[in-house]
Amino acid sequence: MPEKPEPILLRGGRVIDPGRGLDEVADVLLVDGRVQDVGQPGTPDGAVVRDVSGQVVVPGLVDVHVHLREPGGEHKETIATGARAAIVGGFTSVCAMPNTDPPIDDPAAVGFVRAEGMRAGAARVYPVGAVSVGLEGERLALIGEMVEEGAVAITDDGRPVSDSGLMRLALEYTQSFDIPVADHCEDRTLSRNGSMNEGVVSTRLGITGIPKAAEEVMIARDLILAEMTGGHIHIQHVSTRRGVELIRQAKERGVRVTAEGTPHHFTLTEDAVDGYRTEAKVNPPLRTADDVAAVREGLADGTLDCIATDHAPHHYDEKEQAFEDAPFGLVGLETALGLGLTELVDGGVLTLPQLIDHMSRAPAGAFHLDAGTLAPGAVADVTVFDPAAEWTVDPAAFVSKSRNTPFAGRKLRGQATLTIVGGRIVWDRVRGVESLKNLLPRRDG
Ligand code: DOR
Repeated sequence: MPEKPEPILLRGGRVIDPGRGLDEVADVLLVDGRVQDVGQPGTPDGAVVRDVSGQVVVPGLVDVHVHLREPGGEHKETIATGARAAIVGGFTSVCAMPNTDPPIDDPAAVGFVRAEGMRAGAARVYPVGAVSVGLEGERLALIGEMVEEGAVAITDDGRPVSDSGLMRLALEYTQSFDIPVADHCEDRTLSRNGSMNEGVVSTRLGITGIPKAAEEVMIARDLILAEMTGGHIHIQHVSTRRGVELIRQAKERGVRVTAEGTPHHFTLTEDAVDGYRTEAKVNPPLRTADDVAAVREGLADGTLDCIATDHAPHHYDEKEQAFEDAPFGLVGLETALGLGLTELVDGGVLTLPQLIDHMSRAPAGAFHLDAGTLAPGAVADVTVFDPAAEWTVDPAAFVSKSRNTPFAGRKLRGQATLTIVGGRIVWDRVRGVESLKNLLPRRDG
């Protein structure tokens, strides 16, 4: 039997539960790994009481797009280090992409990710299976069997599903399991060997560009196929104005589509790669100020449902190569909440409840995860953050194994102070990394 966690009373915080329209100062009582009450529940015997006045208490944050690199890329990140970086950033659930080596394209590999995630005892780790065997884009992977082992979605992320017939099949077949097909939208006949956004900056730097159309053509195709099949398409990391607009129109027509915006795409433009800064090399690439504005508008009106990090750890040596040779990707788990609060809430783009909706309820809903609410009886996954904490991004202090961030030295406001998974405090900023040393393996499913 799993050991029962002690009851926890979070006293006096601003409790925001977007799914129930709740935003009030209240106490939150967690008993036996569940939310027992939100309001004035009193203090049961033996409860751990934490005064969280001045802080914000929300359903645990959910990131549906992370790369944990295990198996095969353990020098960049492991499932355990990634799950720890997640709780430090305030995430209680993360969805692990299958572009590992070997890829997560069969039930045994899915079971491995799930088991390692549980062993890590930090954030919950939900495996995402591949669409195609070997991520090769030719034959459908064993989707039903992967779902039985715990896959919550499928994607070939890192690569697009280029074969439209295969995407059609995936969208048809996944309806039996009610899981989304997530797509990294990129027409590779258009992106070819580009390394950054195609435009003035790429021309000045002499770097081959990736046109916006490479992403937009594929988004349009996916939306047409989702409409035709009735399947659920989830568009990953949308980076262009037309991409946002295509999704907005499809939603108006009732297409089953959900979509993500990333912190880097709502914060940075292509100018961040100036100086050949490989930390800002990411796919899809950072675009123009107008595209950043469009991603923000998409989040504000709900066209983009989720904020997802696309946490993509890479080793220093790999990022130190010439710009064209360096891999795409940047880490995001430990900076996402601060960027959301600073750029979107302080920036007047979203209200605080809207930000939490995008970082918890909506992603949980899109991937059908048991998360995203503080309703009585819900799993006690809770994030507490200090909205006023000012801090400076210091990659050397990351818990992630990798430090490839374009946000080093940036001043942010807002930081997770307590992260609770299944009723257990797994991250306590007062104790710092000490609190990570005794993480108990979670034994629940
Ligand atoms: O920048 C990226 N990095 N984009 C992707 O699609 C894949 C990811 C990775 O795996 O490094």
